[in-house]
Amino acid sequence: WELPPIEEILEPGSEQDFNQDLIRQQVRIIEDTLASLGAPVKVKEINRGPVVTQFGVEPLFVANSRGKETRVKVSKIVALADDLALALSAKTIRIQAPVPNKGLVGIEVPNEEVSLVALRDIMESEAWERVRSPLRLALGQDVSGAPYVADLRAMPHLLIAGTTGSGKSVCINAILTALLLQNTPDDLKLLLVDPKRVELMPYNGIPHLLVPVVVDMERVVGALQWVLREMDSRYRRFASVGARDIVDYNERVAAASPEVGRIPYIVVVIDELADLMMLAPQETERAICRLAQMARATGIHLIIATQRPSVDVVTGLIKANFPARIAFAVASSVDSRVILDMPGAERLLGRGDMLFMPPDAPQPIRLQGAFVSDAEIQRLIAYWKVFSAPPAGPIPLERATPSVPAAPPVQLPLHPDLAPPVSEQRPSGLFEDDLIPDALEVLLAENRASVSLLQRRLRIGYTRSARIIELLEELGV
Ligand SMILES: Nc1ncnc2c1ncn2[C@@H]1O[C@H](COP(=O)(O)OP(=O)(O)OP(=O)(O)O)[C@@H](O)[C@H]1O
Ligand SMILES: [Mg+2]
Repeated sequence: WELPPIEEILEPGSEQDFNQDLIRQQVRIIEDTLASLGAPVKVKEINRGPVVTQFGVEPLFVANSRGKETRVKVSKIVALADDLALALSAKTIRIQAPVPNKGLVGIEVPNEEVSLVALRDIMESEAWERVRSPLRLALGQDVSGAPYVADLRAMPHLLIAGTTGSGKSVCINAILTALLLQNTPDDLKLLLVDPKRVELMPYNGIPHLLVPVVVDMERVVGALQWVLREMDSRYRRFASVGARDIVDYNERVAAASPEVGRIPYIVVVIDELADLMMLAPQETERAICRLAQMARATGIHLIIATQRPSVDVVTGLIKANFPARIAFAVASSVDSRVILDMPGAERLLGRGDMLFMPPDAPQPIRLQGAFVSDAEIQRLIAYWKVFSAPPAGPIPLERATPSVPAAPPVQLPLHPDLAPPVSEQRPSGLFEDDLIPDALEVLLAENRASVSLLQRRLRIGYTRSARIIELLEELGV
């Protein structure tokens, strides 16, 4: 294998220029507005990012009723966010208090013109060089325009949430692109799950895939169980040579007997967890949590995205196992709390504007996500596809590993062990769907009929719920 050259795959970013006058004007508006509302501040620092500009302000002193001078309270500035937004005619502003290590309050104002963050600019930055890991992620640029790079191995799993159009799929594509530019199929295998059937389908055919992109929800639980078995088999292999983790194992094996072959990292990507959680909540949750708990040492990492940050999708158990999270724009501060355990994401601008919560940081970091175009992805996929034709068997992971006592990574086909998910078993009894009586009860109690109501109450998928409503209509309810 040979890695693709970055400059042939990715396009360079464009320079951003900005309007000095506008920024000076904004400084004045911030100082004047806050002073007139009894919270005088001084702008001490200006950081210009691709999508927002951060004004670092220092609270000044005001005299209280007894004539004593005290500094303006941070909470007072935070409470004036909406007034400031109005004065600046900004869609929404976010106030970060305090900016870590700076002793300033950060007021983040959307830029007049947003600039794209090119993935290539981040992958050619020093920040990228500094992180030494085969699973580096070029997440984006922070509010001062500095590139931000994270290591998936340290996370070790990533949860991504945000409303529709907020940038989840672009983010996943950027992550996959970065991974595929750094790793050959010997070092990295992917399991991609895409219930929407559009976002990840183009990756079909690249040699990194363990199986073709999984689009059938019924298959997913089986696929996750396959990964669980692979995890167990890796533990056995590590134990047989006394290796601590995948890095240790690969070093020892490479040193001792190169012909045995290294163990590749496995990255599992699920673009839309909600569909899965509706279909088979218990199995999905159990499989995901077990993988998340045990997979770090074995080099198996999960990246999960969802449009619906509600507690029945992002359950407490799942959250507990995904300390690293990205919140894109969400509808309400309640949603933001589900993802980040704090409000803030409801003030994001959408289209790649995110709050990234690193695994053990007290505060999330605001980033503008790196963007990859379809053309770039196409080039990368075309590059890798060349290698995989003619097809080298169903699962390329399959290579003879004679001198390893434990079983080589499992090559069971995915299909036999696919237990039919509980909620989709053939209905029996009186009605075409045996949940109809329950559904009726729910609808009568609520005195309204909606597909999503049924989905939530009966914990069933959209298709089935819609079908039940149809059936009820046919029955004349
Ligand atoms: N990092 C980014 N930079 C610039 N534009 C972006 C970025 N991320 C997303 N966008 C814009 O927003 C659009 C929607 O993004 P995306 O498809 O990732 O949304 P999504 O969160 O996956 O939505 P859905 O939940 O409906 O799948 C993109 O087509 C793109 O135009
Ligand atoms: Mg999407």
